[in-house]
Amino acid sequence: MPEPDIIFSLFPKLRRRFPGFYADSRGEKRLYLNSGAGSLMVDSCLGVINSEGAGLNPMPGQITQPENQTREFQQQVRQLVADFLGAGRPEEISFHFSTTAALFNLAFALRSLFKPGKNLLVTNLDHFANISPWETIGAWQGVEIRRVRLTRDLLLDSSDLLSQLDHDTVLVAITGASNVLGTIVPLTDLVSEIKQRSPALVVVDAVHLAPHAPIDVREIGCDFLAFSGYKIFGPMVGLLYSRPGINEGIVPYRVETNRVEPPYCWEQGMLPNLQLAGLKGALEYLLELGRAVSSGDSLAPARKIFRRAMEAIRHYEQDLSLYFLERFKKIASPRLKLYGIDSPGRITSRTPTFALEIAGLAPSDLKRMFWEKGRIIIADGNHYSAVVVRQMQKTALNRVSLAHYDGPDSLDQFFDCLEHIIKH
Ligand SMILES: Cc1ncc(COP(=O)(O)O)c(C=O)c1O
Repeated sequence: MPEPDIIFSLFPKLRRRFPGFYADSRGEKRLYLNSGAGSLMVDSCLGVINSEGAGLNPMPGQITQPENQTREFQQQVRQLVADFLGAGRPEEISFHFSTTAALFNLAFALRSLFKPGKNLLVTNLDHFANISPWETIGAWQGVEIRRVRLTRDLLLDSSDLLSQLDHDTVLVAITGASNVLGTIVPLTDLVSEIKQRSPALVVVDAVHLAPHAPIDVREIGCDFLAFSGYKIFGPMVGLLYSRPGINEGIVPYRVETNRVEPPYCWEQGMLPNLQLAGLKGALEYLLELGRAVSSGDSLAPARKIFRRAMEAIRHYEQDLSLYFLERFKKIASPRLKLYGIDSPGRITSRTPTFALEIAGLAPSDLKRMFWEKGRIIIADGNHYSAVVVRQMQKTALNRVSLAHYDGPDSLDQFFDCLEHIIKH
């Protein structure tokens, strides 16, 4: 773990790397507290698009220099993503339009597993990107679909999950962290229990976890894991990790002439080089951050440096979350409600993502008030999340979601505005 002193002196300076932090693209000042819907882009994302992406030959190849350059570039980006996730080889990473597209693709590829008599599990803590693909293809194929509920305090009910497993469970789709409540799922322990009790493949949606904590696919023991570039300070691109050696029953969409081995079997059509360049820029920024907090060991392998960067981010953001909870508790309004983990003692089980509500005020109205009174962007809506739609049966909630470029000053601005709204 990096020294707390380094972290707390470094982090407030990092926001200079995010041109959108202070103002929007027209130069208008505003405070963006909606990183859960898509983070701000780091400067090196656009930098690498210009310096490397724009000059790439569209087609990779082995004979001419420009085609070779594209092939090597794509391989480098796969390697960076593999290092970010702790995967063994770049071939374990495939590129997609988005996480949702990657998971629909995967569900289609696994369709032969979903036979009548078999079952699969989806959870109420998930985003629908990790529910609808399984329910849609599963229903076509006649597999039984089981839903895992949340506890009364809105944690994933792991006893309910484990009790629904049996020898006919072919797949469990779980999230790494909720994009509404911020709740983190203890993946390593849970996946190990799932694997002891059933032959199920485990698919993890790590979209909300990826910007907030280190991920290690081999430690987790999952079979597939997806996340998105635009949540980790880069552009829109979906990334899918596939554990090597899973071949049985996998038939992806395929153009007749496409290569059959991973990662190429997962990818349809030409790769989006500009997106990959932006992703490279974002990941290189995280490496820089990791080196900055790795005093004396900045030449360590990329995997280790990514891990340090993400540990430092986690540590810094836990402090931000504590500050959020402290200020929240000071507002003595019976109308204001926070959903999810609110105890400082359990701060390690959440990301800085907060779902809240003011009784009697429509979430869309509260969002509008924050904009009109404070030029602050928060979220409203169902966030494509089953916790809102299925478990709470609400049509909308407000959400404030932070990233490591935010600080206590962002929260002071938010809470001053919130207090003003509640008073008036
Ligand atoms: C937890 C979670 N999963 C999946 C997605 C969908 O990702 P994408 O937009 O890349 O399809 C999101 C998007 O907000 C998300 O927050």
